Amino acid sequence: MMAPARPTLGRVKILLTGAAGFIGGHVAEVLADAGHEVTGLDLLTGDDVRDAAGLDRLLPGVEAVVHQAAKVGLGLNISDMPDYVSVNAYGTAVLLAAMARHDVGRLVLASSMVVYGEGGYDCPEHGRVRPGARTTADLDRGVFDPRCPRCERPVAPATIGEDAPPDPRNAYATTKLAQENLAANWARETGGTAVALRYHNVYGPRMPRDTPYSGVAAIFRSALESGRAPRVFEDGGQRRDFVHVRDVARANVAALTGGAPATVKAYNVASGEPHTVGEMAAALAAERGGPQAVVTGEYRLGDVRHIVACPDRATAELGFRAVIGFAEGMKEFAGAPLR
Ligand SMILES: NC(=O)c1ccc[n+]([C@@H]2O[C@H](COP(=O)([O-])OP(=O)(O)OC[C@H]3O[C@@H](n4cnc5c(N)ncnc54)[C@H](O)[C@@H]3O)[C@@H](O)[C@H]2O)c1
Ligand SMILES: [Zn+2]
Repeated sequence: MMAPARPTLGRVKILLTGAAGFIGGHVAEVLADAGHEVTGLDLLTGDDVRDAAGLDRLLPGVEAVVHQAAKVGLGLNISDMPDYVSVNAYGTAVLLAAMARHDVGRLVLASSMVVYGEGGYDCPEHGRVRPGARTTADLDRGVFDPRCPRCERPVAPATIGEDAPPDPRNAYATTKLAQENLAANWARETGGTAVALRYHNVYGPRMPRDTPYSGVAAIFRSALESGRAPRVFEDGGQRRDFVHVRDVARANVAALTGGAPATVKAYNVASGEPHTVGEMAAALAAERGGPQAVVTGEYRLGDVRHIVACPDRATAELGFRAVIGFAEGMKEFAGAPLR
């Protein structure tokens, strides 16, 4: 499919939140390469998105905000809930209110595939279905694949499009969806344009090292680096879309011209090439010469089984398509610096 010609974009003055983060750092580079004037904001460098006075200093003259700052990851447990709401939901609300004060009419929001919850599935009898949360009884006896919510039969994973109903399964996911909804409220009230980029599993150079908040690719990479085997949860058959961080950064540049006034529109940002978590662990282990991944059968209640994206809307409407494939990207990532 040919991507449509994009409207050309002059030099835009942009406030980039989360600029010191993993993805934000790459977005800053790609925005600068595209000729835009970028001001960064990050808690690591002393600026908080929840600080209205600070935003009032930074926003005059800004034409677009690219909002990457967030508390990320699945977290430890319910005690993290207030922090997710504070940084992600309240922080976005403070930012949007400040954008309204300064007539900033364009927002690109880092959203996430986590808003979908469990992916789409096809039942042989009932067609496209969205299973509910898996039971601990099933998970404890190693039954990891969800079943048809209507007939309980096994279902096959299918790609998910942006119009699938959201079903956030943990506090992080709930606040990423809240960010999209707040952006929609802001857009309607102010006539602004918001584009929500639903990143899938982002990986690449400068990914943060192993913490309870890290992505699975960084956890495996950190293990391998210290000579430990990557520990793969469930049976390793969980399907994900691993998308390279430089592609994600390019999607942000493409998003500066997308969307329509007074709306928020969501786009999957994905490679279109799904792989299992087990395959990802094996690829990294092979590239580094071991140790080989271990499949543990452990599980986390907040995890979903398969989530695989349809990337076509971003191609058709933003002219964005990921160009770094799984084999090439993982080969680089196996030896890339972590943060
Ligand atoms: N990494 C992924 O796979 C992935 C997937 C989907 C969505 N996302 C989204 O992408 C964005 C960037 O994530 P990342 O992976 O680069 O994480 P990251 O933790 O590396 O970057 C987030 C940055 O936000 C900053 N930050 C946190 N709270 C802040 C605050 N109150 N004020 C200002 N800055 C604050 C942090 O200091 C950090 O530098 C997030 O919005 C995240 O939800 C990431
Ligand atoms: Zn069925």
